[in-house]
Amino acid sequence: MPEKPLKFLRRWWVAALILILPAAAWGQRGKLTIAADQPGKPISTDLFGIFFEDLNYAADGGLYAELVQNRSFEYSPTEQPAWHPLSFWELQKRGGGEGSVGVAEMRPIHENNPHYALLTVVRPGEGVGVSNGGFDGIPLKAGETYEASFWAYQAFMGQMWGRGDNSKPMPVTLRLETRSGEILAEASLQILGREWKRHSAKLKPVQTVSDARLVLLAHAAGGIALDMISLFPEKTFRNRPNGLRADLAQALADLQPRFVRFPGGCLVHGGGIRRYYDWKETVGPVEQRRARRNSWGYHQTMGLGYFEYFQFCEDIGAKPLPVVTAGVCCQHAGSSPGRGQEGLPLEEMPAYIQDVLDLIEWANGPATSRWGAIRAAAGHPEPFGLKYLGVGNEDAITPIFKERFKMIYDAVRAKHPEITVIGTVGPFAAGPDYDNGWAFARELKLAMVDEHYYVSPQWFWDNLARYDKYDRAAAKVYVGEYAAHDRDRRRNTLRSAIAEAAGMTAFERNGDIVHLASYAPLLARRGHTQWHPDLIYFTGTSVLLSANYHVQKLFSVNCGDTHLQMTLSPTSEPRKLAVSAVRDSRSGHIILKIVNGADSPIPLTVELAGLPAADMAATRTVLTGPGPDSFNEENQPPAITPVSVELTLKPTFDYDAPAHSLTVIRLPQR
Ligand code: AHR
Repeated sequence: MPEKPLKFLRRWWVAALILILPAAAWGQRGKLTIAADQPGKPISTDLFGIFFEDLNYAADGGLYAELVQNRSFEYSPTEQPAWHPLSFWELQKRGGGEGSVGVAEMRPIHENNPHYALLTVVRPGEGVGVSNGGFDGIPLKAGETYEASFWAYQAFMGQMWGRGDNSKPMPVTLRLETRSGEILAEASLQILGREWKRHSAKLKPVQTVSDARLVLLAHAAGGIALDMISLFPEKTFRNRPNGLRADLAQALADLQPRFVRFPGGCLVHGGGIRRYYDWKETVGPVEQRRARRNSWGYHQTMGLGYFEYFQFCEDIGAKPLPVVTAGVCCQHAGSSPGRGQEGLPLEEMPAYIQDVLDLIEWANGPATSRWGAIRAAAGHPEPFGLKYLGVGNEDAITPIFKERFKMIYDAVRAKHPEITVIGTVGPFAAGPDYDNGWAFARELKLAMVDEHYYVSPQWFWDNLARYDKYDRAAAKVYVGEYAAHDRDRRRNTLRSAIAEAAGMTAFERNGDIVHLASYAPLLARRGHTQWHPDLIYFTGTSVLLSANYHVQKLFSVNCGDTHLQMTLSPTSEPRKLAVSAVRDSRSGHIILKIVNGADSPIPLTVELAGLPAADMAATRTVLTGPGPDSFNEENQPPAITPVSVELTLKPTFDYDAPAHSLTVIRLPQR
């Protein structure tokens, strides 16, 4: 097996491993035979996707590229007790300036955006204004362009109560500054008139800093109303206005997900009945969207709303999979504590169902339809091509739930038979809600249901045969949320990632009924992480890819459309070896995945039965690390990262799968 270029480090690592392992650990060479000349079993072409939930500051302060925190002065103590509309803003009085800032709601930009700041300048000095340090400081790159913007009107000039000249504009400067006040970029603007108007300027900082602030200073006595004070990098993902943070979005795009589920999770339920996530409040001009408390205990601007989610899906070639509630609140978040799951009153259901139907029209309707026109006005006249719709999330399967789910399901099926409605079978891999959810799915003949499991790594190994036993005639499965939660602070250990890889081979092998699968949660901002483990961790300036991320990516970029029949002998107990083999008809490649969860290498002879005896050029990628407890750490070289080599293989070859590893071998089929 000549290999080129085999990295020195990798060769050293493998050699060291071989030397330190006792010969007995190698055991008997297993035989893996793949029916490479057979057509195989068709499997889902949408199998691997992602699930985005605004948890851990995944949206504001995360994927959404806005750099100002609390841009619309809508923070509130209902989100966090210490928060108020001026949180994260500081009054600035420079060079003898005198003035104040307050919150007003008399004449807002829009009723959905009720609060704004009123800046009063008594004596301008070198400027009176406000500053914002973003989310843990604003990160700026020297030489890149940022768009600073705000909405304003002139409340009065000179002094309040009319003693001034309102024909004169209020001069303001917009600045990017370091924490110590060094000016990094600056622009001058003028505010004139009594109507709300958007102002903007391009700023190019002269230095790269990780904790800058945006400062707006007014330079004459008077008062101005300010709202939607914003700062975006010009370079967002695909340069979309109101777009996504490029590095994070790229990390998601690199996963090549076939679908994106959003916006939750528990988030869709909101904080109780009638406080569910309302998609209609998340489309349209950003200054008219209703910000709201995130059920994870912070603030959502809704700047990243349904339009942006759908646009992102289109940009990365993924199918959108929005989730709406089933007309019930979460059993753990009733509007009055302890009341548990509550349903919308039945007389309110028709309006709610109409909202769901409107969502489909918004996504797929012609630009001439009522809701399609709103999409078109936002800049997307073509339909988005919605195919999947999740209804419910981890709900208790009660009569209240079933009645409302069925009403929604019947209405969608009647009007939009082209949409696949995905039901829920509760929060766990087994138990009463799982059983009742599946029974209900059979009763309604649902096309697909959503299973969730956050379980130990060992659970994945113990349940590799889970889907082998599923009824092929029943609903297909969407494994909408799953992750291996390891002991020791639920870290993203190699052990957890390898266990998930094992589970994913079972998804592939059962890809005739496991139609979709997505790890959860996806994103977590350091210092604001409420849930561990997550796939990707980030700060304002860095992105850390976990071992689990690499597993997701290796499966997703190496997926196929048929699963090939395989036999493995001898099989050892307890099982710590999982394999799958797929054919990708687009590339004509056979892709083999070998997962070893054991503490020792597993020696295998692999036979691609039926292929001619000639050499084949292949690529082999191995993901492993220093040990099962290892994980990728911030500010350290990654301990766990895939390493690829090109090699030639005969249809029968020996391979020793390293301890705690995922190996992907891609072979062109002749
Ligand atoms: O992924 C985090 C949470 O886990 C989701 O919001 C919820 O669906 C599940 O309980």
